[in-house]
Amino acid sequence: MPFILETIVATKNADGTFHVRPYGLHKDGDAWIFLPFRPSPAIDNVRRHPFLTVSAPSDVRVIAGLLTGRDVVATVPADRIDGVRLQGTTGHMELEAVAFDDHELRPRFRCRVVHEAAHRPFVGFNRAQAAVLEAAILSTRLTMLPREKVDGEMAYLRIAVEKCAGPEEAEAWGWIAEKIAAHYGD
Ligand SMILES: Cc1cc2nc3c(=O)[nH]c(=O)nc-3n(C[C@H](O)[C@H](O)[C@H](O)COP(=O)(O)O)c2cc1C
Repeated sequence: MPFILETIVATKNADGTFHVRPYGLHKDGDAWIFLPFRPSPAIDNVRRHPFLTVSAPSDVRVIAGLLTGRDVVATVPADRIDGVRLQGTTGHMELEAVAFDDHELRPRFRCRVVHEAAHRPFVGFNRAQAAVLEAAILSTRLTMLPREKVDGEMAYLRIAVEKCAGPEEAEAWGWIAEKIAAHYGD
């Protein structure tokens, strides 16, 4: 069972812009394994330009917004690689993909850390942020999961949001809940 870091990955598109999305990176010793499902522009991007950044968003609206088509991402240039990181990140890493293991469903890029930096103090966990993260992941798996499971998990996660959310978390939760409702035509 690998340690998985849920984070925001930026890869460089052919036209020089950046593709920014949430992904889970698997830890393997000092290396990180990046596993985008096919089809994904990130796969061609990293094969062409094997440098990527991972940024921890301090605002979960970044995660929810990226999955619901909202323009929520502000980026700044990376420190050591040709890439960008999130502007409001608590910390980020700059990675180089050093090996590619092709697979019809989920290719793997093995990445080494080129550089890492902390930008804000990390002072604690927030249950509503964790709930939004879980709901966001759920919202990308709706075609694979039975509706009862999705409804049951959302009902449980909503408890933490109702107890612990600030305005940002509440807004992010609303975006994900809307996406799920729209999927079911509610
Ligand atoms: C926290 C989180 C982790 C995710 N991890 C992955 C992942 O490791 N691989 C993947 O392909 N999609 C992952 N997803 C789903 C993608 O973010 C989502 O499908 C996105 O639309 C993919 O964009 P793409 O098709 O351009 O790659 C994750 C989503 C969330 C919210």
